[in-house]
Amino acid sequence: MDRYAVIGQPIAHSLSPRIHADFAQQTRIALEYEAIEVSQAALEQELSKLHRAGYKGLNVTLPHKVSVAAFCETRSERAKLAGAVNTLVRSDTGWNGDNTDGEGLIRDLRDNLDIEVRGRRVLLLGAGGAARGVIGPLLAQSPAELVLSNRNPWKPEALAEHFKPVGALRPCTHLALKGDRFDLIINATSAGHSGEMPRLPGQLLAEGGACYDLSYGSAHAPFHAWAESQNASLIADGIGMLAEQAAVAFELWNGVLPRTDALIAVLHKALW
Ligand code: ATR
Repeated sequence: MDRYAVIGQPIAHSLSPRIHADFAQQTRIALEYEAIEVSQAALEQELSKLHRAGYKGLNVTLPHKVSVAAFCETRSERAKLAGAVNTLVRSDTGWNGDNTDGEGLIRDLRDNLDIEVRGRRVLLLGAGGAARGVIGPLLAQSPAELVLSNRNPWKPEALAEHFKPVGALRPCTHLALKGDRFDLIINATSAGHSGEMPRLPGQLLAEGGACYDLSYGSAHAPFHAWAESQNASLIADGIGMLAEQAAVAFELWNGVLPRTDALIAVLHKALW
């Protein structure tokens, strides 16, 4: 039976084994998918071990999404642009690194939530690894503008420079957003994991605008409460993106794109 795994630290609460078990059942492809705890120090050795053991594909989660690139034989253009890898595809001689996070977000916005990015004013909060993964795919949708704001002012400026060849990104601090209005606000900060929300100026969401969080579960609560205070017409957590990035990874490995709608509903029920 083909073997797959997600590697990270911590990994015990990963939803990936459950998601891929659903895809396997749905597509009638027999596979085994495990969650394996891997420390930073053991990453290179573990990747070689899993390759030798014949694993066909791996998902990579925190804290390895950036560092794993050094151990990839090749990387896709989107993984290079993001500077992060979340999916490894086996070749005879090593691992090919890809990044399905951005496509996962776009698929969730477009196919599941009917949220348009094209021609809209979009604000992305946060300038860490999670934000890097989605900037390229968001720019490819041709928003009217994409503003990247962060607590630390230097990171958005560096990212605007990095992404210049693919599109314009306006870097700023959260506080400099005062007076701006957006149709879509996406939270890519990790603040929710400490029960926090970035400090933002008053009203930022335009009438009828939507709010999307890359976090889910209890980490989504602070952003959800803030989005309610902005009178958002729609508030979404990152479960849809999680399922979609997994579906795209599954397709890279097996050539079949599984459905995600029923699974997303089940995961929401389990988490709330
Ligand atoms: P990830 O890979 O999850 O993006 P990261 O690279 O550590 O993690 O980035 C975390 C992001 O969340 C950063 O944009 C960080 O802001 P700073 O660069 O200013 O530190 C943001 N963040 C984390 N906690 C925050 C908080 N309490 N308030 C505002 N922003 C926060």
